Amino acid sequence: MLEDIFSKVNASKTKEQVSNWSDSINACNDWLRKTIELSPERDNALIIGVGQADDFSLPLIVDEFKNVYLLDIDSKALDVAYCKLDISRRQKVKLVPCDITGLSERIVELYNIMNDGTSPDKIKRKFELFRDQLPKRFKPVNFNIPGCSWIFSNCITTQFLSPVIMQINPNDQEQSEIYKIATHISHRILAPYLRLIETMLKRKGILAYSTDVFKIDSDTKNIIERTSGLSIKSLAKNPLQIVKLTEKLTICIAGWNAVKACSQYKIDRLQVKGLFDSWLWNFDDKKQYIVLAYAFEKN
Ligand SMILES: C[S@@+](CC[C@H](N)C(=O)[O-])C[C@H]1O[C@@H](n2cnc3c(N)ncnc32)[C@H](O)[C@@H]1O
Repeated sequence: MLEDIFSKVNASKTKEQVSNWSDSINACNDWLRKTIELSPERDNALIIGVGQADDFSLPLIVDEFKNVYLLDIDSKALDVAYCKLDISRRQKVKLVPCDITGLSERIVELYNIMNDGTSPDKIKRKFELFRDQLPKRFKPVNFNIPGCSWIFSNCITTQFLSPVIMQINPNDQEQSEIYKIATHISHRILAPYLRLIETMLKRKGILAYSTDVFKIDSDTKNIIERTSGLSIKSLAKNPLQIVKLTEKLTICIAGWNAVKACSQYKIDRLQVKGLFDSWLWNFDDKKQYIVLAYAFEKN
């Protein structure tokens, strides 16, 4: 099951890793506060991709709204996030364990055929078929969530296909046909995902959208620094430079394209608001990402 795969990843973080994220958490919280200030009302808020709420402050959000819905495919992680809250905050929170794409069975199918001896040609055809059936097959469950004034999409769009992508050796990704198709699939999930968010937002509601943009290892670090002329640290604080780089480099992972998808797929009721930010996020010494963060308003 896809839930088990994400559960393993979510539960694999150590306390030490999480304690290294304080700079990133602070940057994310500052940006979240500013997006909440834009919110027209403080009634219902939704957080998509809550996980264990390790990379942002959950109390900060709960304190600002009347009801807060926590959504993730991983119900165990949601329980961990819930248990971090004190009793009075828990009363405002509702857990929504579900697959927001409705694609999990299909994704598990792709995950399995990469390991069960299926021939490379057949694997490629299966991936192409899945890609070509999107976005029609995007079928989230019927949510019992009232209209929201504020929604936080927390670095989730790079994760939809990550169990599949993670199986391709990073050194082979540039050349891999499957990797290319998987990237197209991720992009095609974004448009219906954003449309769904749009329907869940009230008029003038705010979408706080964060995403991992580059995965930085020693190879990509050299390419990024050479191409941008900036150190990774200064690049991480420079969202406009990141945007320029994503246009030049193929190593950018799915999330950034959501912003492009907005105009491409005419998700025209979600307008970009000025709050554009970025920061470095460390998983450990070897795995680092740059996070790009945008605020959208539904008009
Ligand atoms: C980048 S992680 C967020 C980490 C989390 N904020 C934390 O601190 O633990 C993205 C989250 O998206 C969830 N996710 C991935 N695919 C999903 C799907 N189809 N539906 C709902 N949640 C999903 C994962 O379980 C994961 O918790």
